[in-house]
Amino acid sequence: MSTNNASGTPADGMVLSVRNLSIDLVAKNNRKSIVSDINFDVGKGETVCIVGESGSGKSVTALSLMSLTMPPLAIGGGEIYLNGQNLASLSRLERERQLGHQIAMVFQDPMTALNPVMRIGEQITESLARHQPELSRQQQWQRAEDLLQLVGVPSPRERLSVYPHEMSGGMRQRILIAIALANNPQLIIADEPTTALDVTVQAQVLEVMQEACRHAGAAILLITHDMGVVAECADRVFVMYAGRIVEQAPVTELFKRPRHPYTRALLDSIPDLHSPPDEDLSTVTGDPPDIFNLPSGCAFRTRCGFSNGRSLCSQERPHLRAIDRHHASACHFAEEMAGVDRFGEQD
Ligand SMILES: Nc1ncnc2c1ncn2[C@@H]1O[C@H](COP(=O)(O)OP(=O)(O)OP(=O)(O)O)[C@@H](O)[C@H]1O
Ligand code: SF4
Ligand SMILES: [Mg+2]
Repeated sequence: MSTNNASGTPADGMVLSVRNLSIDLVAKNNRKSIVSDINFDVGKGETVCIVGESGSGKSVTALSLMSLTMPPLAIGGGEIYLNGQNLASLSRLERERQLGHQIAMVFQDPMTALNPVMRIGEQITESLARHQPELSRQQQWQRAEDLLQLVGVPSPRERLSVYPHEMSGGMRQRILIAIALANNPQLIIADEPTTALDVTVQAQVLEVMQEACRHAGAAILLITHDMGVVAECADRVFVMYAGRIVEQAPVTELFKRPRHPYTRALLDSIPDLHSPPDEDLSTVTGDPPDIFNLPSGCAFRTRCGFSNGRSLCSQERPHLRAIDRHHASACHFAEEMAGVDRFGEQD
């Protein structure tokens, strides 16, 4: 499986390849980068997670992949390839057609994504009618029922005739996943799909989403701030900090041998069974930096427990670089984090 590739060309066989993507905040007389140097691939059928704190640029990155970047934000540069095809080379109409057919999004809040005055069945069949006009009315309704079955909605035929407010949050999110899968996309982009749900329901919905996508052959780009979700779902992980990817690795490698102090801090902040239930441990010490006023050198240096005031950290911005074939880090001292892994085993 490909890791990072900043060469400006898409890797073979990837559903999605992102190269050197940057997103700017555009004001009258100036332009400031919010997100820079984003490079990643999503392969067929795999689950790739983008993880990072609030404000690190996950959602603006996700929206840009769907050509949904709106003023005052604008794509600053870079390329997005869908099945090897550069989206910028297509007309607007063709780009929208390709995106509509091949990528679907699942958002955080199902209540705003669903139409409150339309029955569930109508919402699914409407999407089918738009993208698959060759289906008869009867085929559309059968497909809608099959989709509800696929995402584990009980009594699917009856549920087709209810309104969104008659369902629980978890069930509504299953409906959104069903709608996302309706037209056989190759990729689902899910931006914090379970954050609004109860913890127990979160796990069920994530499992349903992965199982349904596996069944449908769709890859998942899952955006989350929760390392627990990453552990459950990811094949590969991209960690974002202050608008850049600071580490990428297969999930087991990342959890066992993080090679960036920020990732390590995120992993150390996962609550364990012994944590008091009311203690909020899900944060890294210190505040995220102002994205428009980053510290010199490494953006993480004001919070980094690994830097020990070394001058290189304040003088030079570390670039994402390969540590081994599948692992990359943007820390000057990534190699020093090798040796003993998080679980205490020797390398
Ligand atoms: N429309 C906008 N206008 C100005 N700044 C924006 C806009 N949208 C996002 N930003 C800024 O871009 C940065 C990245 O925002 P983004 O929403 O991508 O973060 P995120 O990682 O998704 O955070 P969260 O976990 O809270 O969803 C933030 O500093 C945010 O304030
Ligand atoms: S480059 Fe320095 S400040 Fe940045 S993460 Fe590495 S050790 Fe910490
Ligand atoms: Mg977000």
